[in-house]
Amino acid sequence: MLDPLPLELRLPLSQRSARSYWLVTFGCQMNKADSEQIATLLEARGLVMAASLDLADLVVFMTCCVRERADERLFGQVASLGRSDQIICVGGCIGERDGEALKAELPNLSYVFGTAALGQGYDSSAVRREHPWAAWLPIITGCDNFCSYCIVPYVRGRERSKPFAEVLEEVERLRADGVQELTLLGQNVNSYGRDLYGQPRFAELLRAVAASGVPRIRFTTSHPKDLSEATIAAFAELDNVMPALHLAVQSGSDRVLAAMGRHYTRQHYLDLVRRLQAACQDSGKGRIALSTDIIVGFPGESEEDFEATMELVEAVGYSQVFTFIYSRRPGTKAAELSDDTPHQQIQARFNRLLALVQEQAYAANQAEFDQILPVLFEGASKRDPQMLSGRSPRNQTVHAPLPTGAAPADFAGKIALVQISEAKTWYLKGRLV
Ligand code: SAH
Ligand code: SF4
Ligand code: F3S
Repeated sequence: MLDPLPLELRLPLSQRSARSYWLVTFGCQMNKADSEQIATLLEARGLVMAASLDLADLVVFMTCCVRERADERLFGQVASLGRSDQIICVGGCIGERDGEALKAELPNLSYVFGTAALGQGYDSSAVRREHPWAAWLPIITGCDNFCSYCIVPYVRGRERSKPFAEVLEEVERLRADGVQELTLLGQNVNSYGRDLYGQPRFAELLRAVAASGVPRIRFTTSHPKDLSEATIAAFAELDNVMPALHLAVQSGSDRVLAAMGRHYTRQHYLDLVRRLQAACQDSGKGRIALSTDIIVGFPGESEEDFEATMELVEAVGYSQVFTFIYSRRPGTKAAELSDDTPHQQIQARFNRLLALVQEQAYAANQAEFDQILPVLFEGASKRDPQMLSGRSPRNQTVHAPLPTGAAPADFAGKIALVQISEAKTWYLKGRLV
């Protein structure tokens, strides 16, 4: 049988006596899912997770290069490792991009592997999960969109869907294993099935996954150009598909959207949002939490373009916005564009956007005041052992005091009702009912 562990990780294990490992994961959920798989494969060979990075025989960095900052973090961390006898491996997107050339820059690096090394068709139901009740399930890997600013298609390769029957088998195993929340993953889940002739597409997959009865289903992310009417209908109708949707807009200006190669207009996006909201009102799902990604300072973005983005954000009313300053990625199309906008001006736009999205996050949380929400608890809050912490259907962080005589572990992975009595920008607070 083919060994699913990347060769570069198999080598040190056969040559040296590594007993413990440590994994450092940067980047998106795809990397998190890959890291869970690596941990599982290492443990199958008898390695155990070390108590800390310093104590590990083998350290694996799962890397991200989507923005320059992500790159820099890896180099800083690897360069500052103190022990000479540790086996240091770099995998993930920087490994894919730079390959062996990385070793010239990081002399203490032993092995490099890329995203292709991990193989595509692993069984996500068999991995060691961070929380036993929550699972990430990659349904499609890679990306064919080549947005002009983005490195992902170069480091993750072409789109490949996991066969329908395989996804459903894994979902069934996860349900039987007690999973309460399942997140379907892909750079563009709406492309699901496009590469598999005659296979069902994403809307049908979502219906079939929801029929498993897993209490909470989420998916990320959706590309606005590919979000179909059938998916909107399934999203609105299925009760266990949570009322939260990430729909990356990137910019509110048609000129910038075209230069980014996003293949939709501002009007198309706004129409999608209205249709989604209307479908969810009609089906009784109610208010949905919309989240998005926005890039500020794409080459050539004018003040007017930026105003169009601000207006779009005003019009939609997001629960959460991930904001990024454009970062030039060598090898992408946009890397060839020049721009003389001073950094200060871009930073000022970014700050204005940030203030608006914080206002909106606060408003979205205020709307939950006095509501009774089903919360999926993770356990004690990091700051206060007497406080439970979990997530609402609209993906808000919710805190509630631990009832006297109870232990946080009693609530971990359980859904319980909380009446909200306090709503802040970043969290809700309430009492168990
Ligand atoms: N496939 C996802 C995005 C994955 S990357 C999607 O299309 O929704 C996550 C986010 O990083 C992107 O949505 C984009 O907002 C941001 N991003 C990607 N490349 C970037 C770059 N070169 N500079 C700044 N932000 C970038
Ligand atoms: Fe990058 Fe665009 Fe693909 Fe998302 S859809 S991963 S932004 S190329
Ligand atoms: Fe994800 Fe970063 Fe790679 S966003 S796909 S880990 S470049």
